[in-house]
Amino acid sequence: MSEAVSVDLIARIREIARSLCTPERYEHIIGVERLAVELSRLYSENTLSASLCAIAHDIYRDTEVGELLRMANRYHLEVSDVELKRPVLLHGKVAALYMKHEYGIEGDVFEAIYWHVSGRTNLPLVGKILMVADMGEESRFFPGANEVRKIAITDLEKSFLNVLRLKMSWSIESRQAILPETVLAWNDCIGGVRYVSD
Ligand SMILES: [Fe+2]
Ligand SMILES: [Fe+2]
Repeated sequence: MSEAVSVDLIARIREIARSLCTPERYEHIIGVERLAVELSRLYSENTLSASLCAIAHDIYRDTEVGELLRMANRYHLEVSDVELKRPVLLHGKVAALYMKHEYGIEGDVFEAIYWHVSGRTNLPLVGKILMVADMGEESRFFPGANEVRKIAITDLEKSFLNVLRLKMSWSIESRQAILPETVLAWNDCIGGVRYVSD
């Protein structure tokens, strides 16, 4: 079944998010949608695409790890050693594959949802918007969220670079493995964008 991004589909996925996620997570998802739509207007991205990415990105974020691994297996997803150690990292890929299999979602929206945990080189615009909105939405209170949001309004690339930096530094501080795609995206971005300090 193939379905274009539509208001109806967004409403359907919104109900799925509400049923699968905790109330706090659902509030985060709605916050991501709000900021992603705002940024999509600023950067001439399709607002429905931004909205669907936001609504779908964390539908499996509260799913228990055994079920995430079973779903990954069902979708023939190749699970890396880092993901096997922390299966929660699979929630973006599994959500994207669900959207593809159930609703025929492909292209930039698929890529954005699939890569939102790690980032990737040459991420489409809507993917950068999703990652920035994911970290900068209003219900996020950690140090850095406000800066991500503020910079995003004037310079999306700079804010995206900042998101990659924060993801890597959190992994280092908590002695967790850094997803290799995040490092590759950082190395690619740093070529053209100035480093953002604390
Ligand atoms: Fe997520
Ligand atoms: Fe999220």
